[in-house]
Amino acid sequence: MKVELYEATDQHANMPNYEAAKENFSWEEIEKEFSWYETGKVNMAYEAIDKHVDEGYGDKIALHYKLNDDIQSFTFKEMKENSNKAANILKDAGVKKGDRVFIFMARSPELYFALLGALKIGAVVGPLFEAFMEKAVKDRLENSEASTIITTTELLPRIPVDDLPDLKNIIVAGDDAEHQYTNFNKEMEKASKEFDIEWLDKEDGLILHYTSGSTGQPKGVLHAQYAMVQQYISGKYVLDLKEDDVYWCTADPGWVTGTSYGIFAPWLNRTTNVIVGGRFSAESWYSALEQLKVTVWYSAPTAFRMLMGSSDNVVEKYDLSSLRHILSVGEPLNPEVVKWGMEVFNLRIHDTWWMTETGAHMIVNFPSVDIKGGSMGKPLPGIKATIVDDQGNELPPNRMGNLALKAGWPAMMREIWKNKPKYDSYFIGDWYISGDSAYRDEDGYFWFQGRVDDVIMTAGERVGPFEIESKLVEHEAVQEAGVIGKPDPVRGEIVKAFIALRSGYEPTDDLKEEIRVFVKNGLAAHAAPKEIEFKDSLPKTRSGKIMRRVLKAWELDLPAGDLSSMDDD
Ligand code: WTA
Repeated sequence: MKVELYEATDQHANMPNYEAAKENFSWEEIEKEFSWYETGKVNMAYEAIDKHVDEGYGDKIALHYKLNDDIQSFTFKEMKENSNKAANILKDAGVKKGDRVFIFMARSPELYFALLGALKIGAVVGPLFEAFMEKAVKDRLENSEASTIITTTELLPRIPVDDLPDLKNIIVAGDDAEHQYTNFNKEMEKASKEFDIEWLDKEDGLILHYTSGSTGQPKGVLHAQYAMVQQYISGKYVLDLKEDDVYWCTADPGWVTGTSYGIFAPWLNRTTNVIVGGRFSAESWYSALEQLKVTVWYSAPTAFRMLMGSSDNVVEKYDLSSLRHILSVGEPLNPEVVKWGMEVFNLRIHDTWWMTETGAHMIVNFPSVDIKGGSMGKPLPGIKATIVDDQGNELPPNRMGNLALKAGWPAMMREIWKNKPKYDSYFIGDWYISGDSAYRDEDGYFWFQGRVDDVIMTAGERVGPFEIESKLVEHEAVQEAGVIGKPDPVRGEIVKAFIALRSGYEPTDDLKEEIRVFVKNGLAAHAAPKEIEFKDSLPKTRSGKIMRRVLKAWELDLPAGDLSSMDDD
C-alpha cells in the first residue's frame, strides 16, 4: 500500500527540531523545573496546581467542565482550595501517606478535587472507571488493600463493602438520603481551604492503574512521582502545550490516558484543561470543541471513526477554527482516519504510542516531523525504542518483532502491585518487552502490527479475556468460555465469547442476551461480549487451558495451526 506523507507545517514551527532535541536531551535538565531540585522533595499536586498560584497564575482558568449546555470553570486558585478541602476530609478520616485511596466517580469537578486532594496527602491514588460493576470494583480494592474510596450515590451500590475488610472509609458525593457514610459535598462546605502538603520523595507512589494482560486478574501498575518529568516534557514537546491553549483530552481518568494526559501533563504545563461529561455524540463533541474554543485535542481512533461515520454535514455546522493540534492514542490510527482529519480539520492527526506500564508517551508523531500515514512515529527524545526477537536480540529495519524499550525512563512503572514475578516477566535483560509486535523502517519510523498476547483493545479500552471468561463461567448455564477480540471497523476490536453450555441448557438467542447482561451488570459494559457463539466444546491444551489462538483462527477463517501439539504455552 502506498504510504501518504504529511509534511510538518508552520503550525509547529516553534517546536524543537527532533534530531536536535534528541541530541541534546537530558532528563536531569528537565528535573530542574521541579521543586525537588531545590528542596529534595516533591508532590505532584503541588507541581500541577499550587505552584502556579505561588507563581502568580492563580486567576488563570485551570478547568472548564462541560456537561450538556452547562459549563463550570475553576481557576488554579480555586483548584488549590478545593483540593485542599478534599485533602482535609481525607486527613480527618485518618488517611496517611502511602494508603491506597480509590476514586470511583463519573467525570465531574469533584472527581478532580478528590483526586488532587488524595495526592496532597501523599496517598497512592487508584482511579476506577465509572462503568465498573461489583466484581471489577471488588477485585481491585481487594488486591490493593485500599483503605478509602471516594464515590457517588449512583455508584455506591456497586461497592461490596462487607467483603472488603481493609476498606475503612467510604466517602460519598451527592445525596446522602440513602446511606450512612461521610457526605463529600457537606464536608467540602465545612473543610478548611488551607492544607500542608505532604512532601514526598521522587520515588514515592503516585498512582495505581489496574490494567489487563492475557492471563490472570487485572494487575496494579504502580507509578512514582518522578513520572512527572516525562509527563511534563511530553506535554510540551508532543501535545505542544502553550500559554494560551485550551486543551481537551477525551479519556476518562479510569484509564491511564485520562490521568497522565487528562490531569498531569496539561496542569504541569499550566494549561487550561477541558473535561466533558455525559455521553458521546458527534454533536456534543463538536459543540464542546466550538464552544470552549479548544486548541489542542487528544482523542482515540474509535472516536475519530465514530465522528467519520456521523452524517456528512454535521461537522459543517460547527466553527472549529480554534483547533490547531490533534493527537490520537490507544489503538492503531488507520491512514484513512489521518486522511479524513486533513479533509475535515485541515490538520494532521498525530498518533502517539504508549501503555499503562510506560506511564507517558514513548513513540510519537513529533509535531515538527513529517508523518507517514499509518505509522506511530519515532521515539520521544530521551527514549530508546527498538525491535527485538524473542531472545532480546535487536533486529534490523523492516523485520517484525517485539516492540521493546530500554528500561529506566522516568514514567516507567515501578511495581506490579504485590506481584514481583509479573513485573519481572516484562523484561529481557535491559529491554522492557511491550507485548506489541511492530517493525521499524529504514527512516526510523515504527509501524504497529498487533498484540503478541490475547489482550483486547476495544474502543481504545484495554480488556483482558481472562477477567471476562472468569465472569462468564459464574453464569449457571456456562460450562466453559473463551474470549477473543474480533476485528471491527469502528471499534478496532469487539469482545467475542465462545461458550460451551452445561447440559440441559438450550443455545437460544435469549440465553445469549441473558449472558451478555450478566457480564455487563457484574463486570462492566465495555467488557460484555458484543457477540456470543455457542459451541459443543472448546479447544483446550492438555492441561485444560482454553486455546484462544484456535478460537481466533475459527473466527478469522484461518488455519488453526497444528492442533496435535497443543501445549501449555
Ligand atoms: C495499544 C493506552 C497502536 C497497544 C495508552 C498497547 C496502540 C496498548 C497505540 C496499551 C497506538 C496504544 N497504535 N496501538 N498509537 N497506543 N496502543 O495500557 O497494543 O490501555 O500495548 O494504554 O494499546 O493500552 P493501555
